[in-house]
Amino acid sequence: MYDPKEVVAKYALSLIEDRKVIGLGTGKTVRKLIELLAKEGYLEHRSFITSSVDTDLQVSKISPTSVISPFSGVIPEIYIDSFDFLIEGEKGKILIKGGGGALLREKVLSFFSKYRVFIGETSKMFSGIAVNVPVEIVPAAFSLVRDRLSFLGFRPTPRESNGKIGPLVTDNGNVIIDIYLPTDDLCDKEKELRGIPGIVETGIFCENLYDTIVVGDEEGRIQVF
Ligand code: A5P
Repeated sequence: MYDPKEVVAKYALSLIEDRKVIGLGTGKTVRKLIELLAKEGYLEHRSFITSSVDTDLQVSKISPTSVISPFSGVIPEIYIDSFDFLIEGEKGKILIKGGGGALLREKVLSFFSKYRVFIGETSKMFSGIAVNVPVEIVPAAFSLVRDRLSFLGFRPTPRESNGKIGPLVTDNGNVIIDIYLPTDDLCDKEKELRGIPGIVETGIFCENLYDTIVVGDEEGRIQVF
């Protein structure tokens, strides 16, 4: 039996080649990748632009000088991240992200990086008719946006912070509402949602935001899309 997160993280490592500026997503799979990068001595010899405080800390506790500020304007040669769900849409594959709350900076890095790779377990391939989608919202618009999402029938659930009182606050000082969307027109819904003032970003990643998707399973098998 293999750990599928490790299986795909190893594959991602092999895609780095001689690229020196690497963008990193957020979550357990990315943490696994960071462990491998450290083991291979990659952390000291490359620069990293991260999508969250969590990933920043993971890299900088091993190699403090390897993290570049997101304010630098440096473009990652490769961006590696995971996802929560992989959906086969009518116009191509769609990724749902933001389970860890880092969707905004993840989307910024996905948009601007030269080559974008998403890795995840085969079990994240999703074929249901509706899916949970995180939406990041400016705090002052929280109630108005929540009520509009409710009116639209998206069953909004404000994300709570782990074990603390109050909502989860993102690295950007915003809050997250999880909504429930039909899987058949997610990329159109994404545009509709972004048209609501107060919504900063959604966890829907359509075709323009990835180049390669890699899934792996407990048998060590890999599929590359
Ligand atoms: C963070 O906001 C998310 O987009 C993560 O990339 C996604 O949830 C996958 O995380 P795991 O690697 O922890 O499953």
